[in-house]
Amino acid sequence: HSPVKIALLGLGTVGRGVYRILTDNAENIAHKVGAPLIIARILVRDPHKDRGLEVDRSLLTGDFSAILEDPDIAIIVEVMGGIHPALDYALAALERGKSLVTANKDMIALHGRELFAAAEASGADLLFEGSVAGGIPIIRPLKQCLAANRIQEIMGIINGTTNFMLTRMTLEGADFHQVLQEAQARGYAEADPSADIEGLDAARKLAILASIAFNSRITINDVYVEGISRITARDIAYAGELNYVIKLLGIARETPEGIEVRVHPTMVPKSHPLAAVNDVFNAIFVRGDAVGETMFYGRGAGEMPTGSAVAADVMDAARNILHKVPGIVGCTCYEQKPVKPMGR
Ligand code: NDP
Ligand code: HSE
Repeated sequence: HSPVKIALLGLGTVGRGVYRILTDNAENIAHKVGAPLIIARILVRDPHKDRGLEVDRSLLTGDFSAILEDPDIAIIVEVMGGIHPALDYALAALERGKSLVTANKDMIALHGRELFAAAEASGADLLFEGSVAGGIPIIRPLKQCLAANRIQEIMGIINGTTNFMLTRMTLEGADFHQVLQEAQARGYAEADPSADIEGLDAARKLAILASIAFNSRITINDVYVEGISRITARDIAYAGELNYVIKLLGIARETPEGIEVRVHPTMVPKSHPLAAVNDVFNAIFVRGDAVGETMFYGRGAGEMPTGSAVAADVMDAARNILHKVPGIVGCTCYEQKPVKPMGR
């Protein structure tokens, strides 16, 4: 097959990971896909910035329309973050029939419906494995491998930054602000880190997971959210004395009163498997009526783990283009189920 051309929108933490993986593993990836994948353009805010990375500088551009208008670019990888202009670019790409791969949970959680509709209309792929829990496979398992189940519950640690912070605060008595800065320096935190520490990032991810798991449209507004900004060293010490650790959990389950979706700090017994999930690692339990309990574990943020999920989506999109398979739309959400009201 002839090469499949790709454009990256963004060359920050995740974009660099995707670039490195598609470049370093190019031969292996080409064998698996059946054609080479070529990064043809990279959109950045500042094409002149020194990036300390061996990127062919002629690929860098600040002009999205050059990417959109290039008929040879078949796959757009949106790893710039935020809503505007990311959403406008994503919709424009899908409307042109270009496949879209994104790690942008903010955009999927808020505007998934419009994006899925645009993908369905043009037959392009819309893939977003990297949007939840970094490198952990969880979107595909829910959509495909566990699809025959009635999902009863999802519970887990789905934010790397806060888990990194709570781990350091628990094990080393680290200072909240210092350890947040370290998470930022490692590329784990969102551009606005209050999204991590106030639980919004986890709430966005939970809304995405719950929408797929319960085949219903769950939005960020349906999620009860409480972050870790009020957790003190004293809370952590008291929890420890009682043989608990404090973790920021996302929990979604079907109840007789509706779907319950919540994110908040939780006292987890030290004997529970989630208590041993430390640093940037995430872990998600999914319970289905047929399969019983399953657990997904791995690095929940960072350049290479997230790059791994995004690059695999790119490979799937390329295979579908090569084999002329119409787009696999992310979430069909045929039902609209009630959401259990939660106090704030
Ligand atoms: P960064 O802030 O590190 O990188 C953003 C990149 O996008 C930069 O290269 C920036 O350009 C470019 N960019 C931003 N806005 C514009 C714009 N208006 N026009 C052109 N280019 C723009 O973000 P991350 O890589 O951390 O995150 C990207 C996305 O991935 C977000 O949606 C995030 O939520 C998600 N994500 C992040 C994870 C992580 O571990 N960091 C994990 C999973 C998902 P320039 O370099 O010139 O500034
Ligand atoms: N800021 C996010 C986190 C990135 O810390 O989990 C991964 O989605």
